[in-house]
Amino acid sequence: MKEKLLHLLQQADDFMSGQKLSEQLGISRTAVWKYIRQLEEDGYVIEAVKNRGYRISSSAEVMNAFEITRYLETGWLGRSLEFHDVIGSTNTRAKQQADGGAPEGLLVVADRQKSGRGRLGRAWSSPAGCGLFFTYVLRPEYEPARASMVTLLAAMAMHDAIAQETGVQSMIKWPNDIIYDGRKICGILTEMSTEETRISYIVTGIGVNVNNESFPEDLQDKAVSLSMLTGRKENRSAICAAFCNHFEHYYKDFVETGDLAFMVEDYNKLLAGTDRDVIIASPEGEQICRATGIDADGSLCVVLPDGSSMKVSSGEVSIRGIYGHK
Ligand code: BTN
Repeated sequence: MKEKLLHLLQQADDFMSGQKLSEQLGISRTAVWKYIRQLEEDGYVIEAVKNRGYRISSSAEVMNAFEITRYLETGWLGRSLEFHDVIGSTNTRAKQQADGGAPEGLLVVADRQKSGRGRLGRAWSSPAGCGLFFTYVLRPEYEPARASMVTLLAAMAMHDAIAQETGVQSMIKWPNDIIYDGRKICGILTEMSTEETRISYIVTGIGVNVNNESFPEDLQDKAVSLSMLTGRKENRSAICAAFCNHFEHYYKDFVETGDLAFMVEDYNKLLAGTDRDVIIASPEGEQICRATGIDADGSLCVVLPDGSSMKVSSGEVSIRGIYGHK
């Protein structure tokens, strides 16, 4: 009932009287008022004016399953959706669900994570009310060697979602991060489960700094939030749904063609690190180089100081020299 009321208010261009709402919902005016109070507790801003009724003035800071679904234009991604006010880690939850047979497209979203995980065993700071933390399940037919390309598709989709919803023109730090002016907006953690030689499932988890007003001291010159860049609160639900909408398009092309050739040109325009020296750290040691772009298989092409070039695969390396070196 609460969601039906919300739907009516969001559809209306203007105030709706308590009488009209009670008629349309088939409940008393007192019950309407009770649900209005509940919506306010959920974070919706609702104006109540005598003789005119109720008008919803802002949903932008509310994130829940209803809000995310409102913006979804997908066929499968996010059509099965779990929203948690608080959870350990959305990646861990999505993996548990996938182990239990969850379908491709299951989306797990949280307002806060108690033990958010980053790459290389790091923690991912996940406070309530400002970040966007989500993970989705893929069940591909392709071979495990292609799984890392999913992270690059996710980065493109998140770049597009951020640009569409906030106007921020971010860059991609291959392969996992979205950055702005050398500071991180978003990180991506893809994990895979295999059975013999085939992929049983992939989960991709994404953390976005959306409305953070500050960061822990160790992250202060490495991280930035979208609201710090735009000067206004941004809509986490809309960004989450926009990501799903874009990802589904990219994923379709990838599955049909088997590689990333269709987006290499666009990706390379957004690639950070082409204009400065970066350090590639691999198990074999560190090398200073300059990135030139990705290949259709998702690996990064770099030029070494002696003019020779080489390709590096994600998973093998970490890149330094982009954060905090402006
Ligand atoms: C990184 O940059 O190190 C990757 C960070 C990935 C964080 C996200 S937040 C949602 C999902 N759940 C997790 O525990 N981690 C990912």
